[in-house]
Amino acid sequence: MIIKSATFEKSSTKISECPTGSRPEFAFIGRSNVGKSSLINMLTGRNSLAKTSVSPGKTRLINHFLINNHWFLVDLPGYGYAKVSKSMKADFSKIIENYILKSENLFCLFVLIDSRLEPQDIDITFINWCGTKGIPLVIVYTKTDKLSAKDFNENKIKVEAKLLETWEELPTSFISSSVKKSGRDEILDFIHFSMNDKKVNN
Ligand code: GTP
Ligand code: MG
Repeated sequence: MIIKSATFEKSSTKISECPTGSRPEFAFIGRSNVGKSSLINMLTGRNSLAKTSVSPGKTRLINHFLINNHWFLVDLPGYGYAKVSKSMKADFSKIIENYILKSENLFCLFVLIDSRLEPQDIDITFINWCGTKGIPLVIVYTKTDKLSAKDFNENKIKVEAKLLETWEELPTSFISSSVKKSGRDEILDFIHFSMNDKKVNN
C-alpha cells in the first residue's frame, strides 16, 4: 500500500473524545519505550508525525493519525508502569482498556514486543487478556536491528512457547526495525488486506 497522506487528526484523553464515524482503525500498543511511535513514523514515512522519546512514557493520550484520508493509525500510551498485583492480574491503564474494549472501528491491535527480551509477564498477560476479550491482534517484534538473528530467534521461540500455553494457534507476527525500516511492506500489506477483507465479508 502506498501512503499518500498522513496527518495528525487529534489527541483524546478518553474514548468519548475519539473521532466519530466509521473509518477503520489500526492501533499500536505495548510496553513503554518498545517503539510504538517510531513504528508509526516508519510506516508513514513521516519522521516526526508521532512524538518519540528515549525515556518511557512519552505518549500519554490516544493519538489518531489519518492515513490516505480513509483510515486511522492510532498511537496509544504504553503499559508497564502499572504495578502487577500479586494475583498477576495486570492493571492496564483505564485509557488503554476503554479504548480497546469500546472502540467500534478497531480492525486490529498491533501488540509490540521488544525483540531483545525474553518473554515479559506483562506482555503475555496483556495478550492473553486481549484473547479473553476477543480483540483481533497481531504481534510486532521491534528493534531487531539491535541483536543478531540467532538471539532474536531464541527469544521469539520462548515468547511463542509462552503464548502456546494459552493460545491454540499463534497470532500472526511481524519482524520490524524502525531504524532499518524493515517490516514496513509486510505490515502495510496486512493493513491493506484487512480493510479489503472486511469489505468483501460485509
Ligand atoms: P512511549 O510512548 O513512551 O510508550 O514509547 P514508544 O513505545 O512510543 O517508543 P518510541 O517510539 O518513543 O521509542 C522509544 C525509543 O526507542 C526511542 O529512543 C527510539 O529511537 C528507539 N527505537 C524505537 N524503535 C527502534 C528500532 O527499531 N531500533 C532502534 N535501534 N531503536 C528504536
Ligand atoms: Mg509513544
